[in-house]
Amino acid sequence: MKSLNPFLLLLCLQSAAFAADKPNIVLLLTDDQDLLLGGMSPMSRTLAFLSDGAYIRNFFVNTPVCCPSRATLISGRFPHNFLYNQSAGKSDLPACMHMNATSSDFEEKSIGKYMKKLGYRTGQFGKYLNSGGVKPYCKDSVPLPGFDRWFTMCNTGTYYGNEITDNGKFRTYGHDPSDYLTTIIANATVNFLEDVLKNKEEPFFAYIAPHAPHVPATPAPEYENVLPYMMAPRSPIYNYTVTDHHGIMRLQSPMDPYQISPQIDELFQNRWRSLLSVDDLMMDVINTLDQHKQLNNTYFLFTSDHGYQLGQFNLPSCKLQPYEHDIRVPMFVKGPGIAKSSPAFVAGMVDIAPTIITLAGGTPPDSMDGQSFENMIKKSGWGSDKRESTWRDKHTLEYWSLGDVIRYQHYIDGPNNTYIGVRLVNETHNYLYVEYYENNNQRYFTEPAVECELFDMSVDPYQKVNLYGTDKEDKNLVNELHSFLQKQLMCSGSNCV
Ligand SMILES: *[C@@H]1O[C@H](CO)[C@@H](O)[C@H](O)[C@H]1NC(C)=O
Ligand SMILES: *[C@@H]1O[C@H](CO)[C@@H](O)[C@H](O)[C@H]1NC(C)=O
Ligand SMILES: *[C@@H]1O[C@H](CO)[C@@H](O)[C@H](O)[C@H]1NC(C)=O
Ligand SMILES: *[C@@H]1O[C@H](CO)[C@@H](O)[C@H](O)[C@H]1NC(C)=O
Ligand SMILES: *[C@@H]1O[C@H](CO)[C@@H](O)[C@H](O)[C@H]1NC(C)=O
Ligand SMILES: *[C@@H]1O[C@H](CO)[C@@H](O)[C@H](O)[C@H]1NC(C)=O
Ligand SMILES: *[C@@H]1O[C@H](CO)[C@@H](O)[C@H](O)[C@H]1NC(C)=O
Repeated sequence: MKSLNPFLLLLCLQSAAFAADKPNIVLLLTDDQDLLLGGMSPMSRTLAFLSDGAYIRNFFVNTPVCCPSRATLISGRFPHNFLYNQSAGKSDLPACMHMNATSSDFEEKSIGKYMKKLGYRTGQFGKYLNSGGVKPYCKDSVPLPGFDRWFTMCNTGTYYGNEITDNGKFRTYGHDPSDYLTTIIANATVNFLEDVLKNKEEPFFAYIAPHAPHVPATPAPEYENVLPYMMAPRSPIYNYTVTDHHGIMRLQSPMDPYQISPQIDELFQNRWRSLLSVDDLMMDVINTLDQHKQLNNTYFLFTSDHGYQLGQFNLPSCKLQPYEHDIRVPMFVKGPGIAKSSPAFVAGMVDIAPTIITLAGGTPPDSMDGQSFENMIKKSGWGSDKRESTWRDKHTLEYWSLGDVIRYQHYIDGPNNTYIGVRLVNETHNYLYVEYYENNNQRYFTEPAVECELFDMSVDPYQKVNLYGTDKEDKNLVNELHSFLQKQLMCSGSNCV
């Protein structure tokens, strides 16, 4: 028998000990949860738990629609780097809303794969990509790329009767109270945590993505009748008609009484109710980690795939626009070495994967366009609006229209609603600049923009007045932001800002 090399044995023991010390990572990603309409309120226990960590005040999505935003998170790449080439294949809307998120290239360079390479036990629970995007994995015996344990939604849009791929077994759930989607996701998550922590040999990465509060926002049976009657917030731009915003916005007619109530008000209330179950889920996760004494060895990240509008600028109920309600999302990070703070630096969805990788002790791969903000939240002295001079102050937005979409009798998306934009936030500037293009079927926008918008949010926080083309337009700023976007649209990896 060959004797064991003692040096190798020592190395193995060391790396096992090292792996066991590595922090665990929990990522909670909700679906359509707004920040600006009070959408965080129902998750009071989660918020209380996270309150001694970092709250990143200026956190935005890179694209305000489900599947591409999730694909941005999973890959750490801008949507323009995994667009589906429509001239190469079928011209209808591809699986992941213009995104090519099921190629082997995308699968290999995904967060689950990197975490496994770093020695993590990986689990995915709930929504990964929208139904089209997960289709390849929703067959018996087909693994979800990068995950040791997966309990992943194959359908989207319902809270009962769900179709789930449960570690390579395709399951259909019924309509009993115990089949409620957030409940079965919580159960699968806790089972995974118990299993990993029983004899903790590896750290874990749990990617938990409930469907709440996405429409129809069906509450769990125990929450159907809770909460007093509530109206959706009547913010200053609720049922507000604009005349100088881009084409789709000018088409919006004032909402009629039925759209306002019951439609929007009831949806608002059910969104809150559905989030009470997400708060329960998070408490289950926290209690499980507490029982295994892992709370202080775990990083928690909590965000949403994008925001939501409920009547803002007359848009009854959706996302898809570059305005604050749709792009600004909550971002909380709590864990070892992170003090309570609410830093003002600008970050976004594309930065989450690189951040998770450095928190796990790794180095983000060249393929990623985003940057880790770990150092930014581990610095002391935050609380003021001070920015790190080496960190960007421009956040990039990209959106390829889904085509003609009508919701609650409002035309809310059409080919011209295809845009690139920049959200600029620093000590002296607070702006949104957006360029709209006519065709949702192109990569580089070689033709000139059809329309542009510029909002100075230091004086116009609700984006009521488009300064572009008026005598208040800062032409130097527009030129600067235009050049920035032209470069950014071509970038990948380290040449991205
Ligand atoms: C999808 O992405 C892969 C890898 O980058 C590429 O080879 C393939 O051509 C893409 N397919 C389409 C239709 O864009
Ligand atoms: C898209 O596909 C067409 C036709 O196959 C090809 O000519 C073009 O170069 C592709 N574009 C990109 C960006 O890959
Ligand atoms: C919870 O998970 C356990 C173990 O997989 C399973 O036996 C049980 O039926 C699940 N309960 C619910 C409500 O899904
Ligand atoms: C889209 O843009 C084209 C070109 O400017 C214009 O003719 C058309 O009316 C626009 N459509 C909408 C819905 O704004
Ligand atoms: C919405 O606004 C329009 C015009 O601005 C107004 O006539 C209408 O009464 C408003 N609707 C409701 C239900 O408040
Ligand atoms: C974590 O908590 C345990 C008790 O729950 C304690 O023994 C340990 O020192 C703590 N570790 C750190 C790094 O705070
Ligand atoms: C904020 O951004 C603008 C536009 O890039 C720039 O001119 C200005 O100097 C920046 N302010 C600070 C304090 O960095």
